[in-house]
Amino acid sequence: MSFPDKVRIVEVGPRDGLQNEAKPLPALMKIKLIDDLAAAGLREIEAGAFVSPKWVPQMADSAAVLAGITRRANVRYPVLVPNLQGFEAALAAGAREISVFAAASESFSQKNTNCSIAESLARFQPVLEKAGSLGIPVRGYVSCVLGCPYEGEIAPDQVAAVASELISLGCNEISLGDTIGVGTPKAARRLIETVSRRVPLNQLAAHFHDTYGQALANLYAVLEMGVGIVDASVAGLGGCPYAPGASGNVATEDVVYMLGGLGIETGIDLQRLAEAGWCAMDHIGRAPSGSVSRVMRQKRPV
Ligand code: HMG
Ligand code: MG
Repeated sequence: MSFPDKVRIVEVGPRDGLQNEAKPLPALMKIKLIDDLAAAGLREIEAGAFVSPKWVPQMADSAAVLAGITRRANVRYPVLVPNLQGFEAALAAGAREISVFAAASESFSQKNTNCSIAESLARFQPVLEKAGSLGIPVRGYVSCVLGCPYEGEIAPDQVAAVASELISLGCNEISLGDTIGVGTPKAARRLIETVSRRVPLNQLAAHFHDTYGQALANLYAVLEMGVGIVDASVAGLGGCPYAPGASGNVATEDVVYMLGGLGIETGIDLQRLAEAGWCAMDHIGRAPSGSVSRVMRQKRPV
């Protein structure tokens, strides 16, 4: 058991967070959030999703968002795509990196993407072929890795099977999503043990939602096993419209604070990060859900 020397933080707030807001944030505010996050030192920011606007209207303006951000040479701006149609639209909008998303649960796959797990993987094949020919990196998400809102417990072997299929199709890394935040550290460790038998540990990302307040504990458990890629969401934004009751991802501020305490450098300016979140949350009309951000705000000089 040893912590990784370096941890890559993938900021998913502008996509995973904002896809779930009842009242969509205007494109200009999304652009500001993404630019503020880059200024705070985030180097990978999921900037939107080219999914069906009938399914997730909150992401319908992703092309305008990509067109409006001030791209920095040292920042990556991946976007989510569900199929070839979404990939073509993402390319036309200037995306240079994408993510595809599958699930470890049949019911969730149907609810989220209107197809079985096998059908979703078949849809990704032409996407990955084209991305490969264009040299575009593709991340693969697996949802419901520690539990499903419709099926309950999910076997780690099932997660490992989907993850390894995504790698065979050409994904360069796999993000393991505890979509409804039900996992606990022991289950998270068992998951990584099982999946890492089929996908190398350095290609695995932890994507933990905080619904049951376990995300940071789960993260600590898998960091200790050497997982070095962490998905997090500024101000703890997040959820999935097709996972009832799911709340936000682990807050990026909490992750940066914990990693700092562990002596793992992230290069992220915590103050600027928190301010980016406050600005977005003020517009949304809610307080940030992460503890570090909340405390920092209370201590802010008036
Ligand atoms: P479908 O209705 O079966 O699609 O949806 P279809 O191929 O039959 O097409 C129906 C209509 O959708 C057509 O339009 C298509 O053009 C259009 P119409 O002729 O009716 O006017 N369409 C599209 N439009 C724009 N962009 C596209 C696209 N594709 C089709 N890419 C589909 C299937 C997959 C498209 C739909 O179910 C969908 O978009 N689902 C996305 C759901 C979603 O975004 N969920 C949240 C992200 S996943 C998540 O949050 C989990 C994660 O964070 C990890 C974790 O926490 O676990 C990643
Ligand atoms: Mg998520």
